[in-house]
Amino acid sequence: MISPQTIEQIKNRIDIIDVIGEYVKLKKRGANYLGLCPFHNEKTPSFTVSPAKELYKCFGCGKSGNTITFLMDHDKLSYAEALKWLAARYNIEIEETQVSPEVKQLQQTADSLYIINNFAQKFFEEKLFNSDEGLQVGMSYLKERGFREEIIKKFQLGYNPSQRDTLAKVLLQNQFSKELLPRTGLVVLRNETEWVDNYRNRIIFPIHNTTGKIIGFGARVIGKADKAPKYINTPENEIYVKSKVLYGSYFARLAIDKADECLLVEGYTDVISLHQAGIENVVASGGTSLTTEQLRIIKKYTSNLTIIYDGDSAGVKAALRGLDMALEESLNVKLVLIPDNEDPDSYVNKVGSTAFKEFIAANKKDFILFQLEVMLKEAGNDVNKKNDLVNQIADTLSKINKAEDFTKQQDYIKQCSALLKIDEAGLTNLVNKYKRDRISKEEKKLPFEEANHFQEQSSETSYRDEEIILINQDEAHERNVMRVLLEYGLKSWDENKTMADYIFEELEQFHFDNPQIEDIYELYRKAYYQGHQPDAKTFLYHENENVRNLVVAITVFPHELSQKWDEVLEGMNIVNRDTSREDVFMSVNYYKLRKIKKMLEENQRDMETSAPLEEQIRLIEVHKHLKQVERDLTAKLGTVIIK
Ligand code: CTP
Ligand code: MN
Repeated sequence: MISPQTIEQIKNRIDIIDVIGEYVKLKKRGANYLGLCPFHNEKTPSFTVSPAKELYKCFGCGKSGNTITFLMDHDKLSYAEALKWLAARYNIEIEETQVSPEVKQLQQTADSLYIINNFAQKFFEEKLFNSDEGLQVGMSYLKERGFREEIIKKFQLGYNPSQRDTLAKVLLQNQFSKELLPRTGLVVLRNETEWVDNYRNRIIFPIHNTTGKIIGFGARVIGKADKAPKYINTPENEIYVKSKVLYGSYFARLAIDKADECLLVEGYTDVISLHQAGIENVVASGGTSLTTEQLRIIKKYTSNLTIIYDGDSAGVKAALRGLDMALEESLNVKLVLIPDNEDPDSYVNKVGSTAFKEFIAANKKDFILFQLEVMLKEAGNDVNKKNDLVNQIADTLSKINKAEDFTKQQDYIKQCSALLKIDEAGLTNLVNKYKRDRISKEEKKLPFEEANHFQEQSSETSYRDEEIILINQDEAHERNVMRVLLEYGLKSWDENKTMADYIFEELEQFHFDNPQIEDIYELYRKAYYQGHQPDAKTFLYHENENVRNLVVAITVFPHELSQKWDEVLEGMNIVNRDTSREDVFMSVNYYKLRKIKKMLEENQRDMETSAPLEEQIRLIEVHKHLKQVERDLTAKLGTVIIK
């Protein structure tokens, strides 16, 4: 771990123009710099860098972030790697913090497991290529399946002999820790004394992580699997975490980046055969449904995912389960089904590389539209089924969630409503309903019906519908308060206190529904009372990615609400001077008003239930009190005091 002092040093030295200037030709435009966006193709520059805010934003593709996220995004670096890059650039010596004994232990275990795996891989490879049994049993099976020596070497395949303890003996001779050995899955201890090989008489597929280290193995029986399981895989341990395994990612990463597309297949042999056929941008999920972690690995390299599965229903169903997650990760998902009970491995061997590629190109279907077509066929003329289907597709579409995917969602709504033969506006409404439903569920806010009701109310205040799709109104108010705190917190409110003091005082009784905003608020408050001078930049380089992203979102996309304030201020003819005080005032008090209205609603609902009399009386008191607070706030806001 890089020490906080080093991170602080790096942050102080960061010059966003200098770093991004390495990659993008920037021209000064007023306070900002402008250039051609490195994240999408464009002819006229819309990539803007603000040295004052230490942020960049592309108005073409919507990408935004800070210097560190730029390096992470552009060069596919991890957070730590980006820091190291900057440290090297600014000649800052990196000081590592002392890791805790537990972490140290974990690292040591992981290192030992890598060493054992490495050793075992060499052993298996040696047996496959240089032992009689390996050649006769293993190699001839692989050759028969059409794998050539070059590809066998590239993927470091091997063979575990059928004698019960060939590997076990060698491992013990080499004094590997008896405690660790069982965790590797390579050998098992029988009757407390007898070490035997776990993958006897099997072909060995080493599994590499993205950096090429061997994290585990898949071991396949020779020929048909009748009694024994077809594959045995490494058990979960410190380095083999099933949900994060993407077989082939190490060999595919450059090709994926280049093709800007990742092909996803089910099995080890599919990956290897496609490589052999010259198709290298391919990884395998291992036959189970995709996990978010796997999708995130893919997302690091490309946004275009093409799933190539055999037409049998099990695999496709597994893939369908991954679909909604893929949408949430902003991936464009296409699907190709291989016909006639073939899988990609057998099919490419049958038709050859060129025909395979042509087949993929000609049969790529949009995953959402494919899903819809399949379901439409199933539903036939059944009205109920069709109704379910409309809801299901709306739910799916509502998961296309990121601001930058808005047009994509619109396109889908258009195409799906055409396929379903329903009104486009109707589907849009339904999609929005699902979105609101989820937002309130996720943030443990109001349940669906109530959120809906609330929503209708707030439309009186003429908020535009599109906004609600992106962030709901409660969240907008919360973000707005956070924005003014970050932006103006350190300025003075009056002779006695700062804006931050004012905000803390006013909001003492309230808390934020969004836990991340609450976190930043608390971090700010703590830092502030410890005598630091926090601002947006303090959190821009926070170690937690969610915190960083939220701060970027809040400061780069000041919400419509603040534009509303501007309108108010314009009406008062005071736009040409510092309006931070009014901004803070309105942000805080509208937020409070919003909260009070919500409390009133809740109270109202409680009153409608048949509670005992005493309770009814209490509720009425609460109602009166809240109404008073509401009136005070409205009055206060009606006469914005300007000093
Ligand atoms: N798999 C597994 N355990 C099993 C069966 C399958 O882990 N008992 C995983 C493996 O990663 C396998 C993938 O699911 O590669 C796909 O399974 P399957 O289609 O049965 O295997 P293939 O990869 O096609 O293997 P082969 O071509 O040798 O039959
Ligand atoms: Mn197969």
